[in-house]
Amino acid sequence: MGNANRVLLIISGGIAAYKSLDLIRQLISQGIGVRSILTSSAAEFITPLSVTALSGEKVYTDIFSLTDESEMGHIQLSRSVDLVVVAPATANILARMAQGICDDLATTALLATDKPVIVAPAMNVRMWEHTATQENLVKLRDRGIIVVGPENGEMACGEFGPGRMAEPATIVKTVIDHFSSKQRLKGKRALVTSGPTYEPIDPVRFIANRSSGKQGHAIAAALANMGADTILVSGPTAEPDPQGVAVLHVESAKEMLAACESSLPANIAIFAAAVADWRPSQLSYDKLKKGNSAPVIETTENPDILKTIANHANNRPDLVIGFAAETGDVVGKARPKLRRKGCDWILANDVSIGTGTFGGDLNTIHMIQEAGTEHWPEMTKVRVADCLVEKICKYFEK
Ligand code: PMT
Repeated sequence: MGNANRVLLIISGGIAAYKSLDLIRQLISQGIGVRSILTSSAAEFITPLSVTALSGEKVYTDIFSLTDESEMGHIQLSRSVDLVVVAPATANILARMAQGICDDLATTALLATDKPVIVAPAMNVRMWEHTATQENLVKLRDRGIIVVGPENGEMACGEFGPGRMAEPATIVKTVIDHFSSKQRLKGKRALVTSGPTYEPIDPVRFIANRSSGKQGHAIAAALANMGADTILVSGPTAEPDPQGVAVLHVESAKEMLAACESSLPANIAIFAAAVADWRPSQLSYDKLKKGNSAPVIETTENPDILKTIANHANNRPDLVIGFAAETGDVVGKARPKLRRKGCDWILANDVSIGTGTFGGDLNTIHMIQEAGTEHWPEMTKVRVADCLVEKICKYFEK
């Protein structure tokens, strides 16, 4: 497949599968390599032979084919490309993706891939509008999966409304947009920390904070969508792993530091995690028992992960960005951290009671650099991530 951009096209079983043949043709004419998986129900609508003839590549159809597994296993198949496109995406495959079910080659590859995913839904209008389908789409979008279409119109079943697969030209445009403007960080390696840390007291208790990981995870997803090879070091959160991001799950600050160290070298490092500043000096291997008086928990300062990475003698990332969670004079308290921690930019946010910055969907950022401070209006954490990534792109393009 050479150096051209490559797509893994997963064709699931719907009447719109016939349009996938035109999609393959259009992708190839744009210089994009196409490798395909045909589900067994898609093979009821179009033949593997027609897909092979158009793509010029072997078509993969069966997870249990020993030949396919020895030639190219499902994991390798899902990673041998730059992007995965599911077109048409039936209600069934969307539901299985949302649940993480992998019971055929297509869904196994989708669960195993570390690449961005675009889906082009196609189904009957009632199925599209069903709460189950809409809830599945919310889940998939939250994971960073890009949804193109469906379009309005008359369906094969005679009903009208949204449900027709987007036209191949529209899907190709989404793919090209992804590969061009959205790949401004291709070749860059990014490290992001996110979420809280848990500092154990005994087998059942720990010191932690209210960080949800929403901000850090959104940043990792935005970096990956821009083409950066992204590693997310995450404390315990309920957030799903973002699509196309390698995630290292940790609990304590010491584990987070070790995971960050092992992820170097990196061009970009962003520290959005709310690392516990202290940990209990002693970990009790037995559960602490109630006695006559409340236990006194002595604490020890945790390593400062941002400061350690920002001051690496040989392995300092080119751009080191910290966050600062402050109350009161937010900018006044955050600015000294720029020098004290040795980072290039600090994104300060107000975490006073009532702001909802910890755990909420919105954030108001003050971006502090040596040269001055920019005050961003309140916006969603996803939008904060996009704005930050735009700044990072400009930094590397200057
Ligand atoms: O997770 P969410 O619910 O979406 O909330 C997002 C957030 C409020 C947690 C996030 O926007 C944020 O502000 N993260 C940094 C929280 C924090 O620990 O701030 P700080 O001012 O205490 O620390 C300053 C910087 O040093 C931060 O980049 C922090 O990651 C880093 N640090 C702090 C202590 C430590 N031991 N190691 C560190 O790396």
